[in-house]
Amino acid sequence: MKKILINFAHPAVSRSRINHALRAAVENIEGVTINDLYANYPDFLIDVKREQALCMSHDIIVFQHPFYWYQTPAIMKEWLDLVLEHGWAYGSGINVLEGKYFMQAITAGGDKGTYQREGLNYFTIGELISPYRAMVNLCKMNWLPPFVVHGIHRGLPEDEVTFHAENYRRAIIALRDGMCDMEKALCEEYINRDLDQVIRRG
Ligand SMILES: Cc1cc2nc3c(=O)[nH]c(=O)nc-3n(C[C@H](O)[C@H](O)[C@H](O)COP(=O)(O)O)c2cc1C
Repeated sequence: MKKILINFAHPAVSRSRINHALRAAVENIEGVTINDLYANYPDFLIDVKREQALCMSHDIIVFQHPFYWYQTPAIMKEWLDLVLEHGWAYGSGINVLEGKYFMQAITAGGDKGTYQREGLNYFTIGELISPYRAMVNLCKMNWLPPFVVHGIHRGLPEDEVTFHAENYRRAIIALRDGMCDMEKALCEEYINRDLDQVIRRG
């Protein structure tokens, strides 16, 4: 069983609907640690040694967050800047995170159609998160396509929120249990486009 660290970032979690639901769906899963960055570091004073120890003791690192100005909330950038130190995460032949998996779980106000060249947002989500892919490459980690929920601005009906929360739980459990076909997952733009394609049966 793999251990999964979910670094969770939402600056106003009491007003969150979708991230709250996604998080609740994975909170009680054995082997999954939720690390709420804004709750732990309201002043942004990140405990680097604690965060590095958390990374080392898990096999899969997930960044769960709403999309804010086409990127992560600010504390995740601070986390990268401080935690992924030269000589620890990369450089000098030392790659402590080598072989671990990385995935983002993103909620976006805009619909999928807005995230394309002809759409309002011009770039795809995959293009916008390419710095994370580059980070994964530099740290010799394994990148996974993101779990994405679109259309929050439309006001998702409750059944859609439930559907995404259940899928998030399925995806996390499959990753934990080694039941994800990574090759198939890498063919997808989003890991949750059709989880039945990605999760192995029995
Ligand atoms: C400061 C801010 C910036 C945002 N930027 C984007 C954005 O770049 N793209 C997008 O699709 N939605 C954007 N949104 C919408 C959020 O992604 C959306 O409200 C969030 O995913 C909802 O999640 P929650 O219910 O957990 O708060 C933004 C919202 C805020 C408050």
